[in-house]
Amino acid sequence: MFADDEARVLRRWASDAAQLAAWVRRRTGGEPLEHIVGRVEFAGLDLRVGPGEFVPRQRSLLLADVATDLVAGRRGVFVEACCGVAPIGAVIADRRPEVWIVLTDSDAAVLEHARRNVVGAAVCRGELLDAVPIRMRRSVAVIAAVAPYVPDDQAGLLPAEAVEHERPHALFGGWDGLDVIRRLLVEAVDVVAPNGAVALEMHRSQADAAARIAEGVGFSPSVVLGDDGQTAVLVAATSA
Ligand SMILES: C[S@@+](CC[C@H](N)C(=O)[O-])C[C@H]1O[C@@H](n2cnc3c(N)ncnc32)[C@H](O)[C@@H]1O
Repeated sequence: MFADDEARVLRRWASDAAQLAAWVRRRTGGEPLEHIVGRVEFAGLDLRVGPGEFVPRQRSLLLADVATDLVAGRRGVFVEACCGVAPIGAVIADRRPEVWIVLTDSDAAVLEHARRNVVGAAVCRGELLDAVPIRMRRSVAVIAAVAPYVPDDQAGLLPAEAVEHERPHALFGGWDGLDVIRRLLVEAVDVVAPNGAVALEMHRSQADAAARIAEGVGFSPSVVLGDDGQTAVLVAATSA
């Protein structure tokens, strides 16, 4: 975002001149704009996000579109795992209001915002797919996740705003960045219904390895590449 656009956002949400001045000081000190105003625009939706929380990235619009298509052809529950403030769940709720949505994350603070961003969704705290209520297992049609996927040794390539203001737990995924994605795929085998699908965002350099993991646990993998030359979504489908 350009400085003019940022200034417009700060002016729009500040309640008075004193707050605006304080916000400008925080912003010039390096705090993310979204943490300061407490909101982020995603797919035309105005979502809440708090200090320290992962700010949904615009590149995740690819996953939102893929998830929308997957939901359209299936009946059953939609789960956003590792949901953070739940951008993908919010898009599904907006585009497919009839779908039953479950949001899961291990971080209690982000789930408060997720609950607000996706009114009516079931919000479940816990480790990855363990958080999905047992009664819903096997009626889950689609799981989508932006799990942490930055390799541990690539912190230096991230913007300072992310490293200094977002929790490491939300960013890093082990030596190859695939630790959480690997666990999600293994756990998804017992959660997704027949004819279901899992859609996971990652960097395109990770997609081949992730597809092999998906195949190894019994899914049929395919990869959707984003126009930015970096983002990929792995779609791991079960058979009917
Ligand atoms: C990259 S952020 C993505 C958040 C959100 N999906 C988005 O795109 O804005 C990853 C999220 O995964 C959650 N997370 C990381 N490890 C987890 C685990 N083992 N179990 C559950 N949630 C986890 C973090 O708390 C964080 O909210």
